Amino acid sequence: MHYQHIRVQPLTPKIGAEVQGADLAQLSGEALSEVRQAFARHLVLVFRDQSLTRDQQKAFGRLFGELQTHPAKTHLGMPGDPEIFDVRITENTRVANGESWHTDLSCEPIPPKASALYITQTPPSGGGDTLFASMLEAYATLSPAIQQMLLGLTAYHSGWQDLRAYGVEPKPGQSYPCATHPVVIRHPDSGKPVLFVNEAFTEKIHELAPRESRAILDMLYRHIETNTRFHCRVRWRPHTLVMWDNRAVHHHAVWDYFPERRTGERVTVRGDVPPAAYRP
Ligand code: SIN
Repeated sequence: MHYQHIRVQPLTPKIGAEVQGADLAQLSGEALSEVRQAFARHLVLVFRDQSLTRDQQKAFGRLFGELQTHPAKTHLGMPGDPEIFDVRITENTRVANGESWHTDLSCEPIPPKASALYITQTPPSGGGDTLFASMLEAYATLSPAIQQMLLGLTAYHSGWQDLRAYGVEPKPGQSYPCATHPVVIRHPDSGKPVLFVNEAFTEKIHELAPRESRAILDMLYRHIETNTRFHCRVRWRPHTLVMWDNRAVHHHAVWDYFPERRTGERVTVRGDVPPAAYRP
């Protein structure tokens, strides 16, 4: 890929790139078009030294689609700006957000297309990196027999399963998104197969007996978390924004800095279409 308006330095051959020369507060025209191309190619883009107000971060997110309100705000009455998901880890935090391999909100009937996290405060002693893993590669590196078996299966993604990890239990009458999606989806832009189950949200594979479902999901999660050949790791500095393709990558926030603080805000871009099954 040849870029004229930005510079793109891959983090690994499979996933992630650092982009230089893009001011996200005023991205438009050919630079925006090149950022879109880099996003499609690398799935995770890192932009350093940005200076963004909350409105500018939202405007950047809207270049990729409408912004999504987090269901904790619509369904559970969590206060704050509806289009902002706060990352605020302090010495009082008991369970850090995002500390497991996941895609954001796969429990939604139409899961988000992308997330863009802007970190403004990092732990003074280091740490607080975020890990990413390509689910295109996760599927591509399974044995053909397992790939074949997964096609045609569907899985249940439960928002409550994710919330329970944070100690939140449903109160009577409270609802929260849950959805069924194909285990292998067709990436809406590239058409490639993507493994679409994640440990935070996916509860079971419908077509299998409970013990079989547990064993297959656990095998897939171990495949994802141990295969460092399709991971990348982002080391944050204050005023870094990272955008990821939420349909095609998992991420995992590393909480190795307690009791220090890490602060940022995320905008989440709505998906356009429900995940469709991949058909070879
Ligand atoms: C998240 O969106 O899950 C948070 C990621 C992070 O804090 O690095």
